[in-house]
Amino acid sequence: MSEPAAEQHASIPRHIAIIMDGNGRWAKQHGRARIYGHHQGVESVRKVVEACSELGVEYLTLYAFSTENWKRPIEEVNALMELLVRTIRKETPELNSQNVCIRTIGNTGSLPEDCVNELQEAISLTAGNTGLNLVLALSYSGRSELAAAMQAMGKEVAEGRLDPDTIDEQTIASHLYTVDIPDPELVIRTSGEYRISNYLLWQSAYAEFYFTETLWPDFDKEELLLAIHSFQQRERRFGKISEQLPMKP
Ligand code: IPE
Ligand code: IPE
Ligand code: MG
Repeated sequence: MSEPAAEQHASIPRHIAIIMDGNGRWAKQHGRARIYGHHQGVESVRKVVEACSELGVEYLTLYAFSTENWKRPIEEVNALMELLVRTIRKETPELNSQNVCIRTIGNTGSLPEDCVNELQEAISLTAGNTGLNLVLALSYSGRSELAAAMQAMGKEVAEGRLDPDTIDEQTIASHLYTVDIPDPELVIRTSGEYRISNYLLWQSAYAEFYFTETLWPDFDKEELLLAIHSFQQRERRFGKISEQLPMKP
């Protein structure tokens, strides 16, 4: 397959968010245990991070573990947490050398202590980096994020620090985990599932969605370029009509 011309095109999305789905089915197709699929999924993460860095994407947010994923069998949850710790430990030096800044969103305090510590080290080490912002959504759910924001705002109102009449979209956005991160322009979901699964509910209000049948462990740079190419064909009207939009170069 010839590569789409996404790389040469000016409109590379600033922020790409991915729902990395299909590891379990990939493993099943290969006659292996689910965790093998998650291991292979890490390879795809490596490829996509590298490609995003090359393309000049500013933010890449990866849905690595949802709040709902805690409901999986304990063996799978434990294996995922171990994989997370090992991957962060192993990959951080390379990510650091690629000028990647590692961040997290989600209720990360609910992760096991060794995960929290490993993440904290990776975040501190890469905090000054100016390249791709790699945002890991961990123990993340969009509704929980909104509930936490409401709670925080409620407290501020009760303490007299926030006037309820001044609450607007900006106030809400500033209480989310994504406070200083621009909204995603492109949300990709792999594995042929057509749902949002509680991901970036507020932030993806005007995102373009791209769905592919490809299972996450088979996703690579070429697949990413297809998604970006599809994004580049879209007319983003934000409620207006075509004729009101600035002329494309
Ligand atoms: C996505 O793959 C990874 C996580 C949710 C952690 P799945 O594990 O959901 O794979 P499928 O959907 O069962 O194939
Ligand atoms: C969404 O995938 C969460 C992650 C990719 C981490 P799931 O596989 O958990 O989503 P559902 O449960 O099928 O909607
Ligand atoms: Mg899944």
